[in-house]
Amino acid sequence: MKSELENSQLDSAARIAHLRDAVRYHQYRYYVLDDPAISDKEFDALFEELQTLEAAHPALRTADSPTVRVGGIVSDKFEKVRHPSSMLSLANAFGAEDLYAWRERVKRFLPPLLQGDLAYVVEPKFDGLTVVLHYEQGRFVLGATRGDGEVGENITPNLRTVRVLPLVIPVDAAAGPAPAQLVVRGEAYVEKVDFERFNERQLEQGERTYANPRNFAAGSLRQLDSGISAGRPLRLWVYQLLSVDGGTETPETHAGGLAYLHRLGLPVCPDLRRFADSEFDDLAAYVEEFGRRRHDLPYEVDGVVIKVDSLAQQELLGFTGKDPRWALAYKFPSEEAVTKLLDIVINVGRTGAVTPNAVLEPVAVGGVIVKSATLHNEDYVRELDIRIGDQVVIKRAGEVIPKVLRPLVELRDGTEQVWAMPAVCPVCGAPLVRPPGEAATYCINSACPEQLVRAVEYFVSRGAMDIEGFGIKQAEAFVQCGYIHDLADVYHLPWDEILGQEGYGAKRVENLRAGVEASKRRPVHRLLTALGIRYVGSVVAETLAQHYASLFDLMDATPEQLSEIRGIGPKIAENVAEWFSIEQNRNLIQKFADAGVQVAEVRSERLPNDR
Ligand code: IVH
Repeated sequence: MKSELENSQLDSAARIAHLRDAVRYHQYRYYVLDDPAISDKEFDALFEELQTLEAAHPALRTADSPTVRVGGIVSDKFEKVRHPSSMLSLANAFGAEDLYAWRERVKRFLPPLLQGDLAYVVEPKFDGLTVVLHYEQGRFVLGATRGDGEVGENITPNLRTVRVLPLVIPVDAAAGPAPAQLVVRGEAYVEKVDFERFNERQLEQGERTYANPRNFAAGSLRQLDSGISAGRPLRLWVYQLLSVDGGTETPETHAGGLAYLHRLGLPVCPDLRRFADSEFDDLAAYVEEFGRRRHDLPYEVDGVVIKVDSLAQQELLGFTGKDPRWALAYKFPSEEAVTKLLDIVINVGRTGAVTPNAVLEPVAVGGVIVKSATLHNEDYVRELDIRIGDQVVIKRAGEVIPKVLRPLVELRDGTEQVWAMPAVCPVCGAPLVRPPGEAATYCINSACPEQLVRAVEYFVSRGAMDIEGFGIKQAEAFVQCGYIHDLADVYHLPWDEILGQEGYGAKRVENLRAGVEASKRRPVHRLLTALGIRYVGSVVAETLAQHYASLFDLMDATPEQLSEIRGIGPKIAENVAEWFSIEQNRNLIQKFADAGVQVAEVRSERLPNDR
């Protein structure tokens, strides 16, 4: 009989072996293929479980466990480069408490006599690919990835294509002669807009997309063909002076080192702040504030890095394991999460554009529970092969509508279902139409209830019929009560019935009614705008109303006639004619007229161009 301890060791040994394989596999996907199969959060969970098990069973520890390494793998695709010193990583902090605890640690390790001028620098933690750059006699001679911390990959030709990276320094001769030898560390990254644009174009062309800006940077630089790197909108920030020899300056602080690098012409991020130790509360507040404002930055950050400014103090503080004691990575809450895609439903907008929307198993992202996310359009779902039942990675950045980034294909069990855009509108049953060459699909039935609420909201809005006191709330209520079936029903509201309903006292109803009445006398172009015909905004509506005094005339205009008007292109013409060709829409105009709404301009004279 085996003892309980032995049994637990056996179970743990199997679990540890499994976890090591899983961690190695996912590190390979992440570092070598630049194509992670799971989210960072999931990876961290695997890694932590492995660490905990190894800590509980010291006998099962091995030197080749992924927990022993700094992380990162060197692929044999590239020539290897041994770094002049270890490329360390950073200890993480997740809240103010960790921040203050770190400060205490720093003070514990610094002799009291040398704490006098203790100060810190806070800078963004860029989410890209770490690079180590070597300059000799002012020439860029070698650039490498971080690899496993000791040995990186030589990606010099690819880095040469990054436009902000000077190939010769100093860029400005006034900075003095170049140091004989200079090694710096930095981060290659991509700006958010460039990343989005790149992925959109790749989707259009059926090419691979990247899951996030970090993978994009890594994937773009770890190419055997530097022509591919050259076509990528990469940028770079330099954030650490590793060694300098024979320059005009010998910086004594981190901030001073960065200022020197900046003078030499290297790209140094200006978003940097220095705090004295006595200002640590301000530092903590700044870090919080930075986290809240990070969405306004053009580049992606996953936190800030706080560093002891004095290089002498850094030296005294040294390292613990693979992390320097003089620096700390303060991580912001993750904006990505993994959850199950329960269903895909269709959202109908005012113009009839239908958007596939993800119904999600509720999940917390950045302190908010997310239950739905956008899937953009039909092609997005098809090209990313997103299936109902998939585990999906979602992202919620600031106030932006959450979106589904990608499915975790590896986690499929075969029960997932491929989704297709329905042929008819799920709300009104009218056919859905996708115009050739467009990504969007439309429900063209103007009486569609979903569309109707949005359409009414737009109809009564300021730039359209401008009905005082009428908004989305009224639109929803009146459509739901069955008072409004089409836009003209705004003029057939059963006021007696509405009076006395919750929120509709005598005064309110009187005002609303007066507002509705007043809107009947708006100029025709306002009514035309209010109809919400695609491409017909206020400018086009005015142009059309100038040429067709009556909507009854406009109704019978052919696309050819319409496109003769200056300012009306074939696309608008086609669309307007199509809208008026639908029986329901023609009846609608008659209904407005019957209700006393002005459908013809009251004019004494016809314009010469009128037909
Ligand atoms: S300092 C020894 N500063 O974050 C400390 N690192 O989690 C050297 N990173 O791999 C790092 N922005 O590539 C430092 N402003 C910044 C950074 C930064 C991003 C990366 C770095 C490192 C990772 C650590």
